[in-house]
Amino acid sequence: MQPKQPFLSDIQEIRKRARQHMERGAVTDGYQCDLDTVLRVLNEALATELVCVLRYKRHQFMARGLSAQSVSDEFAEHAAEEQAHADQIAGRITQLGGEPDFNPAGLLTRSHSEYVAGETLLEMIKEDLVAERIAIESYSEIVRFLGDADPTSRRLMEEILAKEEEHAEDMLTLIERLGKA
Ligand SMILES: [Fe+2]
Ligand SMILES: [Fe+2]
Repeated sequence: MQPKQPFLSDIQEIRKRARQHMERGAVTDGYQCDLDTVLRVLNEALATELVCVLRYKRHQFMARGLSAQSVSDEFAEHAAEEQAHADQIAGRITQLGGEPDFNPAGLLTRSHSEYVAGETLLEMIKEDLVAERIAIESYSEIVRFLGDADPTSRRLMEEILAKEEEHAEDMLTLIERLGKA
């Protein structure tokens, strides 16, 4: 009879390694991504979220005209959700032993999305849609990069990606509604 394939590579070895480098916390020798790259990419995603918070906040307070109130409410909701994403990403960065970069200097360089103020309500919504589409594409790439090597970061970015897709849909719906008004 064939011996059963062990599920784990070597539990004795895993137990031994777990006692080494305990200062790394959640990051074990089995961590399969390039940690520096992951931390850089997560900090870029953090910058992207922070820029999105600032843009949605500006839009929330600058929304004028007919249907401004409901649009402003939507901007406020998105700003809060982007802030929650920023917090989640910053939390993961520290869990991986890195430092979340909140430095306003260079924020736009680190961010994937842009900050465009926008004049009219329609311009604002269009800029938000563009920013969401940038985030969707770059986060999809991050998810593919993380793959099976860092499932926790990947799951986090997948959840955030799904939210950005909802945001894009919301902005498109607003554009269509304004077109009909
Ligand atoms: Fe976000
Ligand atoms: Fe978003």
